[in-house]
Amino acid sequence: MEIQIRTWRPEDAAALAEQANNEKVAEHLRNVFPHPYTEEDAQFFINGALRTHCDRAWVRAIEVDGKIAGGITLTFGDDVYSKNGELGYWLGESYWNRGIATRAVADLCERAFRETDLVRIEAEVLTNNPASIRVLEKDHFQREGYFCNRVCKNDQLIDSVVFALLK
Ligand SMILES: CC(C)(COP(=O)(O)OP(=O)(O)OC[C@H]1O[C@@H](n2cnc3c(N)ncnc32)[C@H](O)[C@@H]1OP(=O)(O)O)[C@@H](O)C(=O)NCCC(=O)NCCS
Repeated sequence: MEIQIRTWRPEDAAALAEQANNEKVAEHLRNVFPHPYTEEDAQFFINGALRTHCDRAWVRAIEVDGKIAGGITLTFGDDVYSKNGELGYWLGESYWNRGIATRAVADLCERAFRETDLVRIEAEVLTNNPASIRVLEKDHFQREGYFCNRVCKNDQLIDSVVFALLK
């Protein structure tokens, strides 16, 4: 299995929509990741990704054996948070539980610490998402804080946990 993290391309829109259009993916993500997820949503997202300066965020596709499998984004903090990055990631359901997210997160963090002046990368995970918590634990993130009712998703209040990886 070959895993690649690469920039998005306009021609990825159909494949992105196919993987992203799944309630089980969207339920763990912010509402900017819509459900249903149409090809127009995918085009809109890719246009935004292509316009985003690499000093502000690395917005990347996860490709597995040459096919779009999901996405991973590292957003760089600004102002006093300039040494901190925030990570988000997802995969289409057919790619789950094969170690792909664990490798993608490790690869992107390793690259960010090598190529930027970030000293810390954090990720916020909903407590009802054990698979994502496991990904961060496997990649040696430390659990830093627990936030009660921090997230309101689909009209439900959910606790979240913040994990961080230090350089
Ligand atoms: C979270 C997500 C990215 C994980 O991707 P993945 O490639 O399947 O992750 P990996 O295979 O690298 O690791 C998953 C781990 O979670 C474990 N896991 C999966 N489902 C689980 C569950 N219900 N309870 C406990 N552990 C679970 C797997 O067994 C595996 O751990 P192991 O290697 O120790 O066996 C994927 O499930 C996803 O895209 N979910 C929807 C979007 C999302 O939640 N994004 C993250 C937001 S913070």
